Order: sequence, then C-alpha cells, then structure tokens
Amino acid sequence: MQLLVLWFCLCGLALMLATSTDNTTATTTITKATTIAKPGCQTRCGNLIVPYPFGIGLGSGCSIGEWFDITCNTSFYPPKPFLRSFEIYGISDTQLRVHNTMAKKCYNQTGGLVHKNNAWANLLTTPYSFSEVNTFTLIGCDDLALISGSDQRCFTSGCVSLCSKAEDVLKGSCSGIGCCQTSMPKGLKYYFTTISSLKNHTSVWSFDPCSYAFLGELDSFTFRGASDFSDPDFMNRTLAKVPLVLDWVIGNQSCIEAQKSNDFVCESNSYCVDSDSGFGGYRCSCNKGYEGNPFISPGCQDIDECASPDTNTCDKICINTLGSYNCSCPHGYFGDGQKSGRGCIAKNSQFPVIKFSLGMGFGFLSILIGITWLYFSITRRKLIKTREKFFQQNGGLLLKQQVSSNEGGVESTKIFTAGELEKATNNYAEDRIVGQGGYGIVYKGILPDKRVVAIKKSRIMDESQIEQFINEMVILTQVNHRNVVKLMGCCLESEVPLLVYEFVSNGTLSHHIHSRGGISWLSWENRLRIAAESAGALAYLHSAASKPIIHRDVKSANILLDERYTTKISDFGASRLIPLDRAQVTTLVQGTLGYLDPEYFHTSQLTDKSDVYSFGVVLAELLTGKKPLCLERTQEERNLAAYFIMSLRENRLLQILEPRVLREGTLEQLQIVAELVKKCLSLNGEDRPTMKEVAMELEGLRKFTKHPWVNQHDHEETVSLVGENEQSDLYTVQLDISGHLWTILPGQQSVDVPCK
Ligand SMILES: *[C@@H]1O[C@H](CO)[C@@H](O)[C@H](O)[C@H]1NC(C)=O
Ligand SMILES: *[C@@H]1O[C@H](CO)[C@@H](O)[C@H](O)[C@H]1NC(C)=O
Ligand SMILES: *[C@@H]1O[C@H](CO)[C@@H](O)[C@H](O)[C@H]1NC(C)=O
Ligand SMILES: *[C@@H]1O[C@H](CO)[C@@H](O)[C@H](O)[C@H]1NC(C)=O
Ligand SMILES: *[C@@H]1O[C@H](CO)[C@@H](O)[C@H](O)[C@H]1NC(C)=O
Ligand SMILES: *[C@@H]1O[C@H](CO)[C@@H](O)[C@H](O)[C@H]1NC(C)=O
Ligand SMILES: *[C@@H]1O[C@H](CO)[C@@H](O)[C@H](O)[C@H]1NC(C)=O
Repeated sequence: MQLLVLWFCLCGLALMLATSTDNTTATTTITKATTIAKPGCQTRCGNLIVPYPFGIGLGSGCSIGEWFDITCNTSFYPPKPFLRSFEIYGISDTQLRVHNTMAKKCYNQTGGLVHKNNAWANLLTTPYSFSEVNTFTLIGCDDLALISGSDQRCFTSGCVSLCSKAEDVLKGSCSGIGCCQTSMPKGLKYYFTTISSLKNHTSVWSFDPCSYAFLGELDSFTFRGASDFSDPDFMNRTLAKVPLVLDWVIGNQSCIEAQKSNDFVCESNSYCVDSDSGFGGYRCSCNKGYEGNPFISPGCQDIDECASPDTNTCDKICINTLGSYNCSCPHGYFGDGQKSGRGCIAKNSQFPVIKFSLGMGFGFLSILIGITWLYFSITRRKLIKTREKFFQQNGGLLLKQQVSSNEGGVESTKIFTAGELEKATNNYAEDRIVGQGGYGIVYKGILPDKRVVAIKKSRIMDESQIEQFINEMVILTQVNHRNVVKLMGCCLESEVPLLVYEFVSNGTLSHHIHSRGGISWLSWENRLRIAAESAGALAYLHSAASKPIIHRDVKSANILLDERYTTKISDFGASRLIPLDRAQVTTLVQGTLGYLDPEYFHTSQLTDKSDVYSFGVVLAELLTGKKPLCLERTQEERNLAAYFIMSLRENRLLQILEPRVLREGTLEQLQIVAELVKKCLSLNGEDRPTMKEVAMELEGLRKFTKHPWVNQHDHEETVSLVGENEQSDLYTVQLDISGHLWTILPGQQSVDVPCK
C-alpha cells in the first residue's frame, strides 16, 4: 500500500516537471539592437568595430572629440584603422591596442654598430596613457636597456640581460639571461628607450648580433630562447603580435567635476569611473544587469537574463526585472526557485513523509543533544582535573605554602583561575596582543572589576625552573616601588604559568628614543629624570628588596613609560635572586646583545654589576639617541658601548651627542654623565659603581641644575632608595616589547631590527 502511494507520488512529480519545463522561460524576448556608433556613422573599418566615443573619419563628428577620430585607410585590403600614425588592433571599454615600435641595435663581428634605432612615444596632451599591462622587455646577451618616461614625475627604469652561451638561454624565461623585463607604473604618458651594449657584443656576436627593447603587452609576448637572437624576422614578427596597450579616458576632469560642468557624457543606467592615471578624466560603465554603449543615448539597456538558461540561475520560472531577474516556482511547488539553492519542490500535504521525517529528525536531534551534553560534561570534568594537575605541576601548592608562611606584602598576590584570564583576554584573542618578547606573549586583559592588566603567557618551562619561578613571583609581588611594574598575580592552572601585571600605557623608552619624528617631551631634563628613576628602581632591587634581585635584562625596551611618562622597569622574566650569603651565582648567560655585560658573558658569573653595565648602555643611548647595536653602521660605530668609550677617549664626546641633548644640557652635566657611562661600562665589574651610587649621582645632577620644565611638579620628589613602600599608582599601561633587540635565549638567536 505504502509503495503504491510512493509510486503515484513520483509519477505526479514527473508529470509536473514535464509540464513546467515548457514554462521555464515564461517571458517575452525583446530583440534589441545595441547602439554601437552614432546614428549615420560607419561602425566598422576592416575587421575592427568602432564604438562611440570613437568614430570613423577625421572631423566627421562621429566621435566625441578629435582624439577619438579614427581614419580608415581603404588602400589596404581589408581596410586598416589608424589613430593618427598608430595602427589600431583593438578597442575595448578601457583600452586601445595599437601597433608598437621597437628599439634595435646590431653589431658587426668587431663590435662596430651596423644598425640602430630608438623607440619612443609621446601621449602628453592626449586622453591616452600607457597601460600598466605593458611591460618593458630587453632581448640580448650583452646589454643594458633604459626606459625613461614621465607620468606625474620623471621616471627611469631598466634592466640588464647577459649570457655567455646560447645554451644558457632559457625559452620562455625573461629573468636576465638573454631576456629581461621590468614592469611599468600607471599613467605613463611618454617614454624613450635606449639600449647600450656592455662589450659591443664582441664576445656573443656569433649567436647574438642584435639586441631589441620594447614596451608592449606582457601577455602577448613569449621569448623563444636563443633562436630569437638570430631570427632576422624577430622584429616584424613581434611587432605584429605584441601591441602597445593604451588606457583611454574622456577629458581631463573627474566624475564629480564633469557632472557639475554640463559636458558629462555618461547616459542613463550607467555609472562614472574616475581614471586612476593621475591626469584626471573618467569613463562610463553600464550598471549591473545592463548592457550597451553608456556613451550614446538612450544609454545602457536592461539585459534579459531569462532569454537564455545560461544567463540566469532559475530552476523553473524566470521573470526578468530591470537590472536583474526573479526566480519563482509554479503553482503547487515551493522553494527558492534557484538551481543552486533548493530549487522548486512539489508540495504534498497528504503524504506523511514530511511529518515522518520531521519526527525522525526531532528524535535524532534529541539523541544528539543528549550525547553532546554528556560529552561536554565529561570533557569539563577532565579539564578541571587537568587544571588541577597543572596547578600542582606549576608549583601552586608551593606558592600557597609560601604565601601562607609569609606575612605582609603578599596579600596583593592573587592566584587567578585559567577561566578568569581567558575571559579577561577574550580567549587570548589576537587583537589583544600588545607585545611579543623573548619570554612570551603579552596580552591586554580586562578583569571583571574593569581593571586593565597585562597578561604575560610565558614560554614552556621545565619542572626544575618551577620552584625558582615561584620564588621569583613571591619576591616580585613584594617589590613595591613606583618605578617597577607591579605584578598583580598569576595563574598556574594552565600548561604554562601566566603572569598578570599592571598595564602601562605609553610604550617603551626605546620606542621614544628611536622612533622618528622627534619626541618633544624627551628633553634633557626628562632624559635625566628617566635615567635617575630607572637607576633608583634598579638600586632598590639590588639592595632594598628582601632578597637582592638582579634584573639581567636591563635595556631601553624594558623601561616602560606610563601616561605621565613615569618610568616603570619591566620584564623580570630573566631575573634571578641572589641568595644573601653569596655575592654571585653562575647562570646560563642570558641578556640582549648590545647591552650584555662582557664580563658576565665570558665568566657566566652573575653579579649586580652586570645590571650596572647594561644600565650604562641605556645611559649612552639616552645621550646619543643611537641604538646599542646596529650592523648597518660602520665597524667602529657598530657597538654603541665601544664607540662611546672610544669617542670619549679621543675627546669627541660632543660630536656623538644628540643635538637636543647638546643644546639643553650644560657642559658640566654632560661631562659628568659621560664619565658615569664610562665607569658603568668598565670591562671589570669591580671597577663599576654600584647601582645605588649611580642613582645618587644622577639624582644629585637633577637637583644640582634644574631648569623650569613641564610636569616638573609630577616628579619632584626624590626616590628614596631604601624601604620604599609607597603604594604604586595603578596607571593604565602598555607593555610594548617592540623594541626588543637581539635577545639571546637558549635555542634562539638574532631577531633583526632596523637601525635608526
Ligand atoms: C505556461 O503555463 C500555463 C499554465 O500555467 C499554460 O497555460 C501555458 O500554455 C504555458 N506556456 C507554455 C509556453 O507552455
Ligand atoms: C593609406 O596608406 C597608404 C600606404 O601606407 C598611404 O600611402 C596613404 O596615404 C594612406 N591613405 C590615407 C588616406 O591615409
Ligand atoms: C667597443 O667598446 C669599447 C668599450 O668597451 C670601445 O672603447 C670601443 O671603441 C668599441 N668598439 C667599437 C668598434 O665601437
Ligand atoms: C665593423 O664596423 C666598424 C664601424 O662601423 C668598421 O670600421 C669595421 O670595418 C666593421 N668590421 C667588419 C668586419 O665589418
Ligand atoms: C619588416 O617590415 C618592414 C616594413 O614593414 C620591411 O621593409 C622589412 O623587409 C621587414 N623585414 C623582414 C625581415 O621581413
Ligand atoms: C583640460 O582640457 C581642456 C580642453 O580639453 C584644456 O583647455 C585644459 O587646459 C585642460 N586642463 C588641464 C588641467 O590639463
Ligand atoms: C522580485 O523579487 C523581489 C524580492 O524577492 C520583489 O521585491 C520584487 O517585487 C520581485 N519583482 C517581480 C517583478 O516579481
């Protein structure tokens, strides 16, 4: 019984299909002769159809203007069309293809020139320009060709083609062996080419007596290899095949100017396109769904898409509309009527198939939902387990222990959950990345209480480092200095530990020193202040924190500035704690080239004097405005530290200082700071001053001579070096690590940074 019903159904469907196919294109087809030329004008010259705005006959009035008049020379058979002296090969909506010219030079065996012609063309004062589809090509084995021209500016380009044996020359390849090419800019109006031989072809004459250069359509030319050199017909054959392509426009006004000025020529159902050649002018183009000649009344005509099944996407009924068409389904069918969509499907409310499939569908869906729910709750449970595991592996218990055994200071350390930080960073979205350094990626995060933080996702650590990491964190959270970026907390539940810092908004010192275009606030006074603030913070880390901390990566890129340009030392990723009973520890050498203490580099013995050396480089950077390491500089200037010391020794200090520093600082101040740099950069760590001495010297210098300057009141108080416990302001901040120069890390070397 069921089968019978199904069979009837299928029959009915087939019947419907059969009747409706007749009605597929149920529209009237209007035959329209699209207007090509002006009424009463010739449309054709030989094989070329000439559409308005072009017209045949000089001064015949068939074209839009004298530059569009085409002469048809009937003394050829078939007749040939010309635009002035250019023979025309083709006319399109935007381009004209015309006969080309070619530069040629031929030599005799002893290098004497036996044939020479140059190639050039001038389209200035015409509505034409050379199209960018043209390319400049040189064929030859001992040649240099130049093409000079003018678009808006003067322009010269060219290429060199060399080879020593015919066998080296590759067919079809114009990459400098026997053939070379160079592309052309848009809007070129004039060009001139010359070919020069390097050795008068004497060494290649046996297989290449001539060289050629031309501007022409890239896609029409194929280099046939060494056989082109000896082909006496090469020039005629190529000229016949490779046209010069010209872009044409109407007038020299833009669409908007032309529309205002009454000589606007775009007719109805068309739109205007500005020329991009730089010389003004426009073209007209038919609107979508219209065709015809947009320059000639009555303008573009609607395309009847329903006239042919190839121009529409309807399954059954196609209804043409102005500029488009609608698809629909015959009575008794439903669907979108699109061939590519649902098409037209027969309606049959009696047949239970739909209800049946609906029921099945819902049943299936419920099962699916059930399974999914089960799956997710299981994975969630697993995730929680994994997070717990990571928490332990990352030393969470250790930290908790440390936190509970440590009174005071630590209450500000928050242990964030992985979920909180995922939410804060919008699941580590790429647009939240504010920096990427040697130690990880820094994201901007917004906590639920609207606080903005910087979240650093560290590189994967091995377990042996974890205890140290925890130690460091506990210490760093105790560091409470207005010039040190505040660590707010961490997250240990994820695979790699995450650190949460206060957010600093104004970029790095490196950025401010080296970015182009002069930073007005970076005066001598401000440089001195930043130096003093940084030195103070480092001195505090070295001596005042409960266990000395060596930063290990002091550089201008790790000195951040907040909105009020207050200094914030950051990036303690490499920092190490020095146990109180030892003055130095042996570590894997880490740091940044250009700032790295040479003594530490050689001995691996880390002391607080390594930071002093790096700070000396930062001071030199502040004085000279030069990058610490730049391979583009001459050998002697390459390393700023060495260059600075050398200049000082040769009494050339004033020559290497930044002009602004020289203008604003007194000679005495500059000499004192330069001496300080020299002491910091001493090769022997013992000879360097301590960070505390450096800070005091800089502070003294600031007080000693103080000019009135902006924001002075903001920074007037001295940074006290010992036991500072002032609450750090929670400025909004940005950790911009873009200034990272060549960071040495295990397994990672040299990241290039352009020089100033
Ligand atoms: C189109 O379908 C209608 C009925 O819907 C029918 O009367 C008409 O004859 C059909 N036209 C053609 C060309 O088959
Ligand atoms: C047509 O071409 C021939 C041969 O190039 C030339 O002599 C003649 O002057 C041309 N005629 C016109 C009308 O330009
Ligand atoms: C060939 O080129 C050299 C320079 O490379 C030039 O001095 C010499 O005159 C040229 N020979 C001829 C025949 O032009
Ligand atoms: C090559 O050309 C030069 C200059 O045109 C001429 O002096 C010389 O005789 C020619 N040599 C030969 C072999 O034709
Ligand atoms: C190339 O064409 C020119 C004129 O168009 C003709 O004089 C010359 O003989 C042709 N050269 C060859 C090698 O066919
Ligand atoms: C634009 O063209 C008109 C005439 O075609 C000419 O008088 C005028 O100088 C041109 N303007 C510019 C800027 O070339
Ligand atoms: C074509 O379809 C659009 C939207 O589906 C509708 O607004 C319009 O009236 C239809 N035109 C004709 C001629 O059926």
